[in-house]
Amino acid sequence: MALVALKSVTKTYPNGFQAVKDFNLDIKDGEFVVFVGPSGCGKSTTLRMVAGLEDVTGGTISIGDRVVNDVHPKDRDIAMVFQSYALYPHMSVYKNMAFALKLRKVPKDEIDRRVQGVAKTLGLSDMLDRKPRQLSGGQRQRVALGRAIVREPKAFLFDEPLSNLDAKLRVTTRAELKALHQRLKTTTIYVTHDQEEAMTLGDRIVVMSNGLIQQSGPPLEVYRNPKNRFVAAFVGTPPMNFLEGTLEKRGDSVVFIEGSNDSSGKPYELAAHPARAAALAQHVGKPIVMGIRPQMFSLDPVENGGGGASMRVRVNVVEPLGDTVDVACSTPKHPLLVARLPARGNPPPAGQDVTLHVAMELVHYFEPGEFGAKLMV
Ligand SMILES: Nc1ncnc2c1ncn2[C@@H]1O[C@H](COP(=O)(O)OP(=O)(O)OP(=O)(O)O)[C@@H](O)[C@H]1O
Ligand SMILES: [Mg+2]
Repeated sequence: MALVALKSVTKTYPNGFQAVKDFNLDIKDGEFVVFVGPSGCGKSTTLRMVAGLEDVTGGTISIGDRVVNDVHPKDRDIAMVFQSYALYPHMSVYKNMAFALKLRKVPKDEIDRRVQGVAKTLGLSDMLDRKPRQLSGGQRQRVALGRAIVREPKAFLFDEPLSNLDAKLRVTTRAELKALHQRLKTTTIYVTHDQEEAMTLGDRIVVMSNGLIQQSGPPLEVYRNPKNRFVAAFVGTPPMNFLEGTLEKRGDSVVFIEGSNDSSGKPYELAAHPARAAALAQHVGKPIVMGIRPQMFSLDPVENGGGGASMRVRVNVVEPLGDTVDVACSTPKHPLLVARLPARGNPPPAGQDVTLHVAMELVHYFEPGEFGAKLMV
């Protein structure tokens, strides 16, 4: 059963701006769903409508079996955690966590039982007497989380709750959040613009752009099978490379023609994987976009096992990351192609030409345009 259901939800702000357009989503009881997308795509607006902090312009939002469009936020039985965790500075950690329960007139011993229990779960038991200013950023974030958990709500709503933390703490707190969800199994909607955070946390990610859902699904499914070029570009690091060109038929095989020549005057041509040639044949002669993840390039022809397709490119910038190295390259037609290569020996030096082999069995093909659909080939 869906615990939270959004049906044809729209939001037009008083100034006439339509921030959310026909949003449809069912969230199952216990599910961890992440809204992800670039700044301004409508993530916070959608979350705030679920919380009741923002009016719905059209459509319905249900929690459990009741439509909550007109239900006051405090009666929706959900708890929201924001980026700025806004603890009460003059109250102890204990009082911060107990506050909402006190307002609800929960009996004192019940409050104590819940606060002590949650504090233990979050490793805050030793800090219950401290004031927020006596805590680190990560500890404060945990108090904000604890304050939501003690309420035992039907659902948690998070809006970029980790963005105030430094990079290391963000990663550990992220893991704590995930472990916590595995234990409590409380339905969660989590908003972030960080696709890595979305991938690592979500049972399901909902990729948004311009107030619309572009794709929703389990993280690896979205990563492996993006519906269109927008999703393909947004999910995965470094971002997928896109080569615009055309397909040409050569006997039984199909060849991608990039449309420029390498430094030795040879045209860039990549032979499609033989297993995909038949399906690709119907797109011959039309403009097409090939999507290559940085991890699909290799300096070593044996590694990719994909029909021996390769391209000679100019190396512009080399970024060593430890066990891998990101190499920014170019062709005359495509000024930026990023390859993520294993860092064995010395990486190719900037300014030189190298041959990159492409795992053609894995590459994606799209129709032209920012939202070009992925071709089922
Ligand atoms: N009160 C408002 N009046 C008019 N437009 C608004 C208002 N609040 C937000 N918007 C616009 O609605 C769009 C969606 O805003 P929203 O805050 O939902 O984006 P977001 O996806 O959360 O972005 P971010 O990642 O930057 O937080 C934006 O273009 C924003 O400028
Ligand atoms: Mg936002």
